[in-house]
Amino acid sequence: MKILVTGGAGYIGSHACVVLAARGHEVVVVDNHSNSSPQVLTRIAQLTGAPVVASTVDLRDAVGLARLFAEHRFEAVMHFAALKVVADSIARPQEYESNNVGGTASLLAAMKQASVSRLVFSSSAAVYDATASIQVGEDAPLGAGHPYGQSKLSCEHLIAQQANETADFHAVNLRYFNPVGAHPSGLLGEDPHGTPTNLMPYVSQVAVGQRARLPIFGDDYATPDGTGVRDYLHVMDLARAHADALDFLVRERRSLTANLGTGQGVSVLELVQAFERVSGRAVPYDIVARRAGDVAALYADPSLAQRVLGWRAELDLEAMCRDAWHWQSRNPQGYATS
Ligand code: NAD
Ligand code: WQD
Repeated sequence: MKILVTGGAGYIGSHACVVLAARGHEVVVVDNHSNSSPQVLTRIAQLTGAPVVASTVDLRDAVGLARLFAEHRFEAVMHFAALKVVADSIARPQEYESNNVGGTASLLAAMKQASVSRLVFSSSAAVYDATASIQVGEDAPLGAGHPYGQSKLSCEHLIAQQANETADFHAVNLRYFNPVGAHPSGLLGEDPHGTPTNLMPYVSQVAVGQRARLPIFGDDYATPDGTGVRDYLHVMDLARAHADALDFLVRERRSLTANLGTGQGVSVLELVQAFERVSGRAVPYDIVARRAGDVAALYADPSLAQRVLGWRAELDLEAMCRDAWHWQSRNPQGYATS
C-alpha cells in the first residue's frame, strides 16, 4: 500500500517507516523538519535498501499538501507530525494549537479532497485525566492537564467528525504511553534538541557522559520505591502496532481508539537500574523536587489492542534500555554525530 507518513523523519515516524517498508508498503514522508534532521531519511534508506521519497512541507501549507496528494495516490495516511513537549505547550499554547490541531485539520481536508479514507493517528496517554485512575482503559475519564494533551484530544475530535461526515473514512487513534528505545541496528533513535524532557534520553545522555547527573523528580510518591511509575514501551513494538492498525482498517472498515503500552508499571529507579545493568555504565542521580503536573503512577490497560488489533508489546525493559544505549553510544551527538 502507498502510505503518506507525516512526521516520518521524527523519532517514532522514522521507526514506523522501516517497519512499514518491511511489511511491503511504500512510504512517502512529509516533514517540515522543525524537530528532526533530514539525515534521518538517509538512515531509513540504509535500513530499507531503497531511497526514501520525502517532501519538506508544513502540514498547514494547504497548497503544498494538495500538490503532494495530487502527485501520489495514497491509500492511507499515518499522522505522526506534531509538537510534543508538555512544558513548551504550557509556555506557547497557541503554537501547539496551530501546529497540532491546525496541521491535523489541514491534513484531513487534503485527505477528503483526494478521497483518502484510512488514517492512523498518533494520540497519547496525555488525553486522559491522569489524576483519575492509575491503570487506564480507553473509557477512563478524559481531560488533559496541559495544552499539548488538549491538542491531541482536539485532533481526535476532528478525526471523529470527519468519520461521521464522510462515508468510508475510518481512523485508528493510537494512544501511546511512554515510547522509548531505538532501532536495534543503532541507526535510528531519539534525538531531542537541547535538554531532554523525557526520562530515557536523559538517562542515556548521562550514561554516555554528555550530562553529569540525572535529576529524579521526587522519591516520596505513593509507589513501591517512591519514584514515579510509568508504562514504557519499545518504539519497535509501537511501530509494529501501526502496521497492525492499517491491517485492521483494511479488514474491518471501522474506526477504533486503542491504548498502546505494556500494561506494566516501571519506576524511575527501576529503569535507571536496568539501564546501568545493560550498559555497564553508572547513571549518577540526584533526588530533586517533584515536577509540576506529574502523577505518581500511570499505565495502560492494553487489552483492547490485543483483542482487536492482535497486537501486544513483546520487548521488555532490558531490550528498551539495551537499544536506547546502543543508539546513544554509537551516536553520542544524535544525528549530528554523522
Ligand atoms: P518527533 O518530534 O520526533 O517527530 C515529529 C515530527 O513531525 C518531527 O520530525 C517534526 O519535524 C515533524 N513536524 C512537526 N510539526 C510539523 C508540521 N506542522 N508539518 C510537518 N512536519 C511537522 O516526535 P515523536 O516522538 O516521533 O512523536 C510522534 C507523534 O507521537 C507525535 O504526534 C506525538 O504527539 C505522539 N506521541 C509521542 C510520544 C512520545 O513520548 N514521544 C508519546 C505519545 C504520543
Ligand atoms: C517519566 C517519569 C518523571 C525526566 C510524557 C508526556 C506524555 C507522553 C510521554 C507525549 C516521570 C520522571 C523524567 C527526568 C525524572 N508524551 N523523570 N527525571 O511525563 O510520563 O510523559 O512523555 O505524548 O504526554 O507527558 O514522561 O519521560 O517525562 O517522565 O525523574 O529528567 O520520569 O517524573 O515519573 P511522562 P517522562
